[in-house]
Amino acid sequence: MGRMGTKSPRGGRRAGQGGGRGGGGSKADSAPTFTGRKLAERVKTAKGRTISSKLWLERQLNDPYVAEAKRRGYRSRAAFKLGQLDDKFGFLKPGARVVDLGAAPGGWTQVAVERLKGRGTVVGIDLLPIEPIPGAVLLLGDMREPAQQAKVTAALGGPADVVMSDMAASSTGHGPTDHLRIVALCEDAFAFAEEVLAPGGAFVCKVLKGGTEAGLLAALKRAFASVKHAKPPASRSESAETYVVAQGYRRPAAPPAA
Ligand SMILES: C[S@@+](CC[C@H](N)C(=O)[O-])C[C@H]1O[C@@H](n2cnc3c(N)ncnc32)[C@H](O)[C@@H]1O
Repeated sequence: MGRMGTKSPRGGRRAGQGGGRGGGGSKADSAPTFTGRKLAERVKTAKGRTISSKLWLERQLNDPYVAEAKRRGYRSRAAFKLGQLDDKFGFLKPGARVVDLGAAPGGWTQVAVERLKGRGTVVGIDLLPIEPIPGAVLLLGDMREPAQQAKVTAALGGPADVVMSDMAASSTGHGPTDHLRIVALCEDAFAFAEEVLAPGGAFVCKVLKGGTEAGLLAALKRAFASVKHAKPPASRSESAETYVVAQGYRRPAAPPAA
């Protein structure tokens, strides 16, 4: 997950680990209000910490989204990114069937459950275990494996209205390698979306700055009525991540009979 804000550079989860409840928020809740912000905190003791770990900790302590996620019981500051994307594009609707790929620790799933308002289905899957979230089905496994995809499909109980992916492999520190890995995960997510999406459905996926790779973008434009890129305010400006939001899925026409 690299420096996405829910893991320390050493891989331990830190922010917003609060219980299994969705933060009880509404659409208006997706933008935290920052009244009474504290002066920037500095980490005084570097004992036993690497420089990157010290900088990460300082950033966490001074990040209003981290504090707000904790206050609202969201398991990650990433929850705000999904809320802000949904505020802009409106793809999470009560009654929907939603797939959350790369769901751990569960911030996006919490927001999806809230916005479905008790109607619909949310299925999350991750390589890492996820603490239960009332109102969601959570699976442990690699979404690229057909057996895991079959479990997601079965849990959905029908065609999906939204397939969303915040998947990321842990950073190698080598930019081009990280880039290729995230592109590959996005292609995997899209391939699965094509299997499960209902006509009119939406696909939301993390990509890197510069937008979606040309080949994938062309495929998305063929498959969806609208394809947009957006970087929600909660996504750190120094982070290369951005999101592609594709809406209005058109099932590919069956090939003409031979
Ligand atoms: C940035 S985190 C997701 C944060 C999440 N959206 C939230 O709000 O809490 C990315 C996740 O993608 C998961 N992931 C990466 N590759 C995966 C795969 N092939 N199948 C399932 N999950 C994967 C990682 O394990 C990691 O937990």
